[in-house]
This record gives sequence, C-alpha cells and structure tokens, in this order.
Amino acid sequence: MAVQGGAVAVGARHLIRLRTMDVLIHLFVGLHIVGIGALLGGFLTQMKAMGKGTARFVPAMLHGALTMLVTGVILVGLNQADDHHVNNIKIGVKLAVLIVILGLVYVKRDDEHVDKRLFGLVGLLTLANIFIAVLWT
Ligand code: HEM
Repeated sequence: MAVQGGAVAVGARHLIRLRTMDVLIHLFVGLHIVGIGALLGGFLTQMKAMGKGTARFVPAMLHGALTMLVTGVILVGLNQADDHHVNNIKIGVKLAVLIVILGLVYVKRDDEHVDKRLFGLVGLLTLANIFIAVLWT
C-alpha cells in the first residue's frame, strides 16, 4: 500500500512538472507571436511609404526581430527539456532567415529612408518565416 501511495505521489509530481512545462511552452509561443506582431506590424505601417521609397525600419521591427530570436531559442530549450521532438532543419532555416532580417534591420535602423527593394525583402522574409513555421510540419 505504501509503495502504491509513493508511486501515486511520484506520478502526480511528474504530471505537475509536465503541466508546468506545457504552460511555460505555451507562454513563450505567445511571446513569440507578440514578436511576429511587432515585426510584421511595423513592416505593414510602412507599406505606403515603401511605395514612395521613404519607408524606414521602425523600432518595433528591430524589437520584434529580437523578441523572435530570444523566445525562439528559449522555445527550443524548453521543448528539448520536455522531450518534445524539435525539427532541427526547420528551426535552422527559420534561424538563418531571421538572422538576415535582424542584420538588415539593425544595420539600417537609423537610416531615414530605406531602399524599397531592401525594405520589401525584409517583409518577404518575415512572411516566408511565418509560412515555414506553419506549413513545415
Ligand atoms: C521571423 C522569424 C520567425 C517567425 C515568423 C516564427 C514563427 C513561428 C510561429 C508562427 C510559431 C507557432 C507555430 C509552430 O508551432 O510552428 C513558431 C513556433 C516556434 N518557433 Fe518560431 N518563428 C521565427 C523564428 C524562430 C527562431 C529564430 C527560432 C529558434 C531559434 C524559432 C523557434 C520556434 C520554436 C521552437 C517554436 C515552437 C514549436 C513547437 O512548440 O512545436 N522560431 N514560430
């Protein structure tokens, strides 16, 4: 009976730990999506200006891209710690695309006007990463 009680207690602790990890992972997926919102939202506010060649990388885009990086790395760690399968190739591609986005936005962050092709490229790469995330299963 005592052994059974112990087993139940261990099982319950294991369940609570798993649930905590699930909540943590979902919390960081939420923050990851806040990052997408800032990066893509910042881009969308500049679409009209982009047509005129007067668009600039607004701070929300830089902060959004940084948020994506930090929350993405944390998500990889949490998923691995929780024994969830992480698709390393998919994550590697997303990371590489994000590094290009981050590099461009960081280097050009103080430029008053960014060339429309370069600006458009950042929007395109952001969209590409969103579709890689949701379509590559
Ligand atoms: C602009 C860049 C990025 C975009 C638009 C993006 C988009 C997304 C989206 C929409 C999700 C939720 C859907 C899903 O679970 O697949 C997600 C989840 C995730 N992302 Fe990203 N991501 C980006 C960058 C990154 C980076 C750089 C990393 C890692 C270094 C990363 C790691 C992850 C992980 C581990 C998950 C959770 C997958 C899961 O729990 O099944 N992401 N991302």
